[in-house]
Amino acid sequence: MNIVCLYGSPRVKGNSAAIANKFCGIAVNKGANVKSWVLNKLNFRGCQACYGCKGKSDKCVLKDDLAEVLEAVRNSDILVLASPVYYGDVSAQVKAFIDRNFSFLVPDYVHAAKIHRLEGDKTLVMILTQGSPDKEAFKDIFPRYSTFYKWMGFEKSELIHACGVMEPSDLKNRQDIFKQAEELAEKLAG
Ligand SMILES: Cc1cc2nc3c(=O)[nH]c(=O)nc-3n(C[C@H](O)[C@H](O)[C@H](O)COP(=O)(O)O)c2cc1C
Repeated sequence: MNIVCLYGSPRVKGNSAAIANKFCGIAVNKGANVKSWVLNKLNFRGCQACYGCKGKSDKCVLKDDLAEVLEAVRNSDILVLASPVYYGDVSAQVKAFIDRNFSFLVPDYVHAAKIHRLEGDKTLVMILTQGSPDKEAFKDIFPRYSTFYKWMGFEKSELIHACGVMEPSDLKNRQDIFKQAEELAEKLAG
């Protein structure tokens, strides 16, 4: 099982990273192969709307640090997207990555029977952390992106949503969240 884990927060020891680490740690123990990147440390741009991936190439034509990441996602079974909630959405780093996933769609993605280029049975695991303790707040984020990922061949998607965690120390008392990450890893990588 191949897992790509993308840390979407600039805080490498932050809440979303801690949850992603728990998930990936269990998955590795189960024999999964995990490749991970801190998006904030990569040199890349968002989609440039050049449509190179819809004409001269079936891949993103931008030559930057994300090329290797996109290739790993193509070959993955699970994509872990760990993001803090910033202004009611994913972080800018995660959004820029998502926009580059445009290269996973075929040129005629509006009409084609199979609209994506990815093979295999893929699952999205989204990890969202937010300061607000209100579980209803920002609950639109996951369904919105899971719909787009379904377009791109991720038939299944799972969410770990940690609310009321502002500082990394806030997560220390949240064994329920770590348990959820553990159980999900057992289920998907077991
Ligand atoms: C720029 C910025 C915007 C934020 N926007 C929100 C927000 O809209 N809603 C919220 O509940 N928390 C918001 N927060 C708090 C973070 O979501 C919260 O601290 C989260 O746990 C950070 O995750 P991390 O430790 O993985 O970086 C914001 C924090 C920052 C720095």
